[in-house]
Amino acid sequence: MSKTKNYCYGFCFLVSITINILFSINLYVGGGDKKQDESSVGLSWSTKAAAEAEYVASISCSGHGRAYLDGSIYEGEPICECYDCYVGADCAELSPGCAADANSGDPIFMEPFWMQNAADSAVVISGWHRMSYRYADYTTMSIELEKYIRKMHSIVGNAVTEGRYLVFGIGSTQLLNAAVYALSSENSSTPSNVLASIPFYSIYKAQTMFFNSENFQFEGDTNSWQSNNSTNNMDVVEFVTSPNNPDGELKTSVLGGKTIYDHAYFWPHFTPITGPSDHDLMIFTLSKLTGHAGTRFGWAVIKDKDVYEKVLNYISVADLGISKDTQLRVLKLLKKAVEGDGKPIFEFAYNKMRDRWERLSSVFSKSTRFSIQQRHPLHCNFFNETRLPSPAYAWVKCEREEESDCGAVLEAGNIKGRSGSIFSAKDRYVRLSLIKSQDDFELLLQRLTELVSLENSGVETM
Ligand SMILES: Cc1ncc(COP(=O)(O)O)c(C=O)c1O
Repeated sequence: MSKTKNYCYGFCFLVSITINILFSINLYVGGGDKKQDESSVGLSWSTKAAAEAEYVASISCSGHGRAYLDGSIYEGEPICECYDCYVGADCAELSPGCAADANSGDPIFMEPFWMQNAADSAVVISGWHRMSYRYADYTTMSIELEKYIRKMHSIVGNAVTEGRYLVFGIGSTQLLNAAVYALSSENSSTPSNVLASIPFYSIYKAQTMFFNSENFQFEGDTNSWQSNNSTNNMDVVEFVTSPNNPDGELKTSVLGGKTIYDHAYFWPHFTPITGPSDHDLMIFTLSKLTGHAGTRFGWAVIKDKDVYEKVLNYISVADLGISKDTQLRVLKLLKKAVEGDGKPIFEFAYNKMRDRWERLSSVFSKSTRFSIQQRHPLHCNFFNETRLPSPAYAWVKCEREEESDCGAVLEAGNIKGRSGSIFSAKDRYVRLSLIKSQDDFELLLQRLTELVSLENSGVETM
């Protein structure tokens, strides 16, 4: 009897030790990072905001639009904002004959990823969140956010950030001019020459001319400038856009002077990542990384301390820093984006772009009237395989001698693109955006298919 009792005590003791070990593991390993979830903290003031956010997000808009908390209200209810070509109170009707609008670079193609990851990407902002102009360390940039940006670059392997300075801007747009300002000569009797290689993103010219400084002036195309000027003692600031907008080319400097590397599209969904970019001044944007163009956030990675201080000073004089609400949101998004070493987000984005390119290439392969840029495979270190690039834009050429205004030819086929002259190239070229919503892409493909089949049936629109 006492033997049985002893066995029983021994067994209970063992069970008790096992349970204690399991509890300790859970406490120090599982819950040891003090990660809080809804079960560990009683929610109070955030529940109303959360309910409002979930309510507005639940308004379906037939999948062809969205309702927003800051959108218009009709009879006390938020109304649907319909995507292009969809109309009606719930965006259910496709407007007949509506033109496919492939003009803007709005990166809505990423929206489904964030909807699939709704719980991990929502942010709650208290009414008293960071009301100060500055953080506790007297800076205007979040150290935690900076950490995640560096982490993102090291995961992707697209830029060297060790030993480099970071500056945040209101979108990369603000940093482009901050960089021109920082690289131009202040004491020279003549202004620095700002250049880019045709075809180039129009903002470079527009901003440089708009800010109309004594220290810099826009001089246009690098190649023409080089053939007309001596390369000695040249005071140039060259924009190098890699991959390029509009044609997706990986570019390098033509003039070999001071450079601003605009890496807006240097992410694995647009181009194979062949190695980390290691230039003195590189600019990136959240817009084409996670798709949050509306958040208006970009960053510069800078080697030289003086240049860094000038860029920082520009941002400080222009804005006293970047919105703290924006920085909180970007932090939340990047925390999600770096999960799984970036594989989920970049696989989602790459698959979407690859699918669009495959379908687009198949349409253009049936045409002799229109062509698109050639794509060449490269080894992508991030995905560890050789892949074709899948640029954000198709750079379409009208091949027929007489069709020198390609924008007009496409317009007649009910397609809106961005004409070549906006990129200082010929109007024989048109840029078509491939990063808009799925609805936009489907309509674009449908209109292009119609245009190409007309070409093959001998009936034409122009
Ligand atoms: C090459 C390039 N650089 C910069 C930008 C501006 O991006 P952001 O939204 O960060 O201002 C764009 C936007 O389309 C772009 O194409």
